[in-house]
Amino acid sequence: MEKKKILLAVSGGIAAYKAAPVASKLYQSGYEVKVILTESAQKFITPLTFQTLTRQAVYTDTFEEKDPAVVSHIDIADWADLVLIAPATANVIGKLANGMADDMLSTTLLATKADVLIAPAMNVNMFNHPAVIKNMETLASFGWRFIEPNEGLLACGWIGKGRLAEPEELIEAVHMYFNEKRDDQPFPLKGKKVMVTAGPTREELDPVRYFTNHSSGKMGYAIAAAAKNLGADVTLITGPTSLEVPSGVKVEKVISAKDMFEKAISLYGKQDVVIKCAAVADYTPVTVHENKFKKKNDTWTIELKKTDDILKELGKRKEHQILVGFAAETENLEDYAKDKLERKNLDMVVGNDVSKEGSGFGSDTNEIVMIKKDGSVRPLPILSKDQAANEILQEVMEMMKP
Ligand code: PMT
Repeated sequence: MEKKKILLAVSGGIAAYKAAPVASKLYQSGYEVKVILTESAQKFITPLTFQTLTRQAVYTDTFEEKDPAVVSHIDIADWADLVLIAPATANVIGKLANGMADDMLSTTLLATKADVLIAPAMNVNMFNHPAVIKNMETLASFGWRFIEPNEGLLACGWIGKGRLAEPEELIEAVHMYFNEKRDDQPFPLKGKKVMVTAGPTREELDPVRYFTNHSSGKMGYAIAAAAKNLGADVTLITGPTSLEVPSGVKVEKVISAKDMFEKAISLYGKQDVVIKCAAVADYTPVTVHENKFKKKNDTWTIELKKTDDILKELGKRKEHQILVGFAAETENLEDYAKDKLERKNLDMVVGNDVSKEGSGFGSDTNEIVMIKKDGSVRPLPILSKDQAANEILQEVMEMMKP
């Protein structure tokens, strides 16, 4: 997919620090991101922070023309598909509403034909001041859309509306904007049902103890979010995690491998695509003690039995579905992954070397290899889990082609 280009314009309030995770997450989600910092924004956060997060030079001064072939504020005004101003101070809102152009941010915004999302952040009394309200109405009349600030304790000590929307809300607004834009050309997965499993399972031993593993759910949640962004009707079956469910995704929360088995089997028939990313326990205690097992001997031998293999069962029952499994390995990655592909009757297996630095459990990045039943093997470099999720779905969509 062609990368969408986002110009993130940061003005000078304490909330400027929140623009860093926004830039980082947008970049990791596959957008191309360029950043403008006003002079006051640089009192709170440095250009180097954004340069490092976006791998792009940061714009701070209208007269610092780095490339003689272009006029930089016009060049990036034309480059952007979307401008996000976050945070937008009362001063910047006032300048933009009145057509002022005295720095890099305001000259660029006056020149751009891209749509603009604007996320104000300021003291509650400033936010409610008639002058600011009037300026915001003016900007709204240009077709600019606002991402409302949140209510709560403000950095200045006041309680009220004025706190910059959280980075996740800003990112969601960007995703939503591009999704809406694609409404005329249907999303590639529109009308398709995608079921994703994520996270660990918990196998209870007694009321206070259980077996689990290191899965955070990040990879599976990223796949669910990416499938949703591609227009799919997504159901996420998740073991216990601390993650927020991506918006618009239906969630089924389960605890044990048995719960996940039952839920996955019951929903399987209706699905077009199933991606089993969960780290399901392979073994569960034979005996679950009704009361807390009391400390007695120096050792405690616990007997475990195999859990039912959900993926294998789905493979047996496969009709029209595209079935994707994962293989988390610490050695012989490709061989073991190929073995799972065949034994579990999969269409694709995502091999995951979980012993590598920055790959597998808990990290924000992953290094995977995609192996399809036609024999193709596609290793990928280390990517953010969002990017890896998109790559997995690209392969799925390829397999869906008639
Ligand atoms: O959650 P994160 O912290 O982001 O980490 C991501 C991840 C490492 C969990 C993920 O990338 C991953 O590799 N998931 C698969 C983990 C796993 O259980 O792999 P496995 O090789 O043990 O199992 C193979 C496949 O069989 C998996 O698709 C698994 O979901 C499935 N399985 C396993 C056992 C079982 N009883 N039922 C199953 O369906």
